[in-house]
Amino acid sequence: MRVAMIGTGYVGLVSGACFADFGHVVTCIDKDASKIARLEAGEMPIYEPGLDDLVETNVRDGRLFFTVDGAEAIRNADAVFIAVGTPTRRGGGHADLSYVHAAAEEIAGLIEGFTVIVTKSTVPVGTGDEVEAIIRKANPDADFAVVSNPEFLREGAAIGDFKRPDRVVIGIDDVDGATGTRAKAVMSELYRPLNLNESPLLFTARRTSELIKYAANAFLAMKITFINEMADLCEAVGADVQQVARGIGLDNRIGSKFLHAGPGYGGSCFPKDTLALVQMAREAGAPVRLVETTVEVNDARKRSMVERVRKAVGGDLKGKTIGVLGLTFKPNTDDMRDSPALDLVPALTAAGATVQAFDPEGMHEAGKLLSELTFCEGPYEALAGAHAAVIVTEWDQFRALDLDRIKLTMAKPVMVDLRNVYRPDEMRARGFRYSSIGRS
Ligand code: UGA
Repeated sequence: MRVAMIGTGYVGLVSGACFADFGHVVTCIDKDASKIARLEAGEMPIYEPGLDDLVETNVRDGRLFFTVDGAEAIRNADAVFIAVGTPTRRGGGHADLSYVHAAAEEIAGLIEGFTVIVTKSTVPVGTGDEVEAIIRKANPDADFAVVSNPEFLREGAAIGDFKRPDRVVIGIDDVDGATGTRAKAVMSELYRPLNLNESPLLFTARRTSELIKYAANAFLAMKITFINEMADLCEAVGADVQQVARGIGLDNRIGSKFLHAGPGYGGSCFPKDTLALVQMAREAGAPVRLVETTVEVNDARKRSMVERVRKAVGGDLKGKTIGVLGLTFKPNTDDMRDSPALDLVPALTAAGATVQAFDPEGMHEAGKLLSELTFCEGPYEALAGAHAAVIVTEWDQFRALDLDRIKLTMAKPVMVDLRNVYRPDEMRARGFRYSSIGRS
């Protein structure tokens, strides 16, 4: 099949490379000429494990192309994916759909033969209807179907998630009608390589598919927020949140995943999508109060992390040096969007502390968003002379630090572990004043 992928952000680039690896011919399109030039030179604009190899192989084998001018690729495509950004619009939680609308306008004038237009960007319910109306208005004779196909990949594990998904949700209206049947055939063929044992494809109506994406992210955000509140309660009553998580997670109805307590969720998806869902639900007259509370609790949690550090250094941060390990919102990415570090680091410096930080992949991005901190070459440099070490992101390389070496160079052997990487008894035995999340 011939695929045109509009947008080479996280979702577009990973999906494009994976579809090419499935054997389809994919052209990734982006208005940003420098980004396309870098991609053509084999340079990845994002850090995602395995992506560079996947891109290189498929470019070499003639299945993956990059271009600024997508006209020809769109004309020839069986499926055109819209994978552009839908950031939060300023003032309120609405998703900004201007890039999606612009893509629809562009596609409209180029459709030749039956074409499936697929929204892969996370878009509010009803956006498929808008895309369809834009194209129909601009090109009344066009033969096309608009399909919703949300993406569930996680940064850092994106390629595995794409190739071994729990499910692929595909929203097609009137799926048994003449156009719907053809659209279903195109989508089934695109994802055919996934049909090993059982097909993971779930066909729904278009609006249902659009909502599934938001519902999934909101549920996961709520699950994390629930365990974070349990962690605070554990600290107050003398219980252990990891055992609580295990104890409830073994119940299949609850499940053990996404029950790691921490400094609050961040990233490019949960914060943006929960806000958009809240807005959408309010406007529809069916407010989602659990999600509204999740957003509030998580925001407050990220802001409160500085208090843990303050307490760990004896109540006053003024004049203290804090070594921060990890800045990205989670490991295996360079993404800093809505990372807990963006609340913590400025709060530390505002309170008079000096911050020395290290992150294996995120320092370039962090440098654009954070000032008044020193970026270090490695974890040991970040902790030299520090009155406290704070683990913000659970990168593998922070899991087996040489604790004796750290203790010798730190001003005080104090660790605030916001990801529960170490064990309290061990840390105490090694002579550290150690605090973590939800473990007394
Ligand atoms: C999330 C979803 O997991 C994906 O399924 C979805 O496709 C994606 O959003 C999206 O909408 O595009 P992602 O934001 O890459 O993926 O990262 P997650 O691994 O879900 O982590 C999100 C945040 O939750 C991180 O800050 C992480 O540290 C935090 N988290 C996650 C916890 O604090 N505890 C957990 O148990 C799990």
